[in-house]
Amino acid sequence: MIVYRTKNDLNGHLLTFKNEGKTIGLVPTMGALHQGHASLVEKAHAENDIVVVTIFVNPTQFNDPSDLDHYPRTLDSDLELLRTLEADLVFVPSVKEMYPDEEPQTFDLGGLDLVMEGRYREGHFNGVAQIVSKLFMLVGPTRAYFGQKDFQQLVIIRRLVEILELDLSIVACPIIREKDGLAMSSRNTRLSKEERKLAPFIFETLLKARELREELSPGELKEWVSLQFELQSGLELEYFEIVEDKGLRPIVKWDEKLNKVACLAVQLGEVRLIDNLKFD
Ligand code: PAJ
Repeated sequence: MIVYRTKNDLNGHLLTFKNEGKTIGLVPTMGALHQGHASLVEKAHAENDIVVVTIFVNPTQFNDPSDLDHYPRTLDSDLELLRTLEADLVFVPSVKEMYPDEEPQTFDLGGLDLVMEGRYREGHFNGVAQIVSKLFMLVGPTRAYFGQKDFQQLVIIRRLVEILELDLSIVACPIIREKDGLAMSSRNTRLSKEERKLAPFIFETLLKARELREELSPGELKEWVSLQFELQSGLELEYFEIVEDKGLRPIVKWDEKLNKVACLAVQLGEVRLIDNLKFD
């Protein structure tokens, strides 16, 4: 496994692989790696000749400076994990390397960036599009791996590939959860003991909501979920939406023939967590 810090060095090495006709799987991350990230690397490994993992805490996608300051950074253990997963190349650039003095790019994401997360994190998805497009251009992967944990991000990245007319496949990977159902996240390490005990409530509520679909309309179900969070102190619900999986339009009737995903964001003390569940 080789760790590169500059675009030039990474590019040089990648060119050799490309000249040999090797397939390249890209796994973009912000580090603080856990089994969720590992599952993406394993899948990339199984499906490609070469696996490139990037670790970069991208400042342009943080709308809250305190969230950026507190984002966990665990480079040594990240590299150790990636070595055991047999990643080939790891790219760990500086902010200056990824954002030299230049006009920031703005993407028209067709409104996909304005709902759910976009309503609470202004500019977040433009920042994601900025960094992911740079990584796509730099690495030129055959396939790129993203988790369904960040469902809206996944939908937006598919859109980005269309906008940029890139020749690569986006591979969606299932959500990896702790034994008690909490979706793995780098932010979970910031939860206090008490908060960690409360956190499984998020997935439990999603599961119960899916069962109640037989009895309640989508609108009634949204109210039911809000009420559960009002009754449960310590967790504050930001949003709960049931959307279709292409344009993220809200579902108003269950019999619409669309793939449905229920998404929510919850504030638990200082930590903001997101989760989702397919409703089909
Ligand atoms: P990060 O939060 O580090 O996540 C990197 C990738 O791991 C994303 O595709 C995310 O969906 C996936 N992932 C995280 N937790 C997961 C889980 N429990 N199960 C399955 N996959 C999981 O997402 C980002 O970084 C950034 O926005 C990035 C795309 C790297 C751009 O900066």
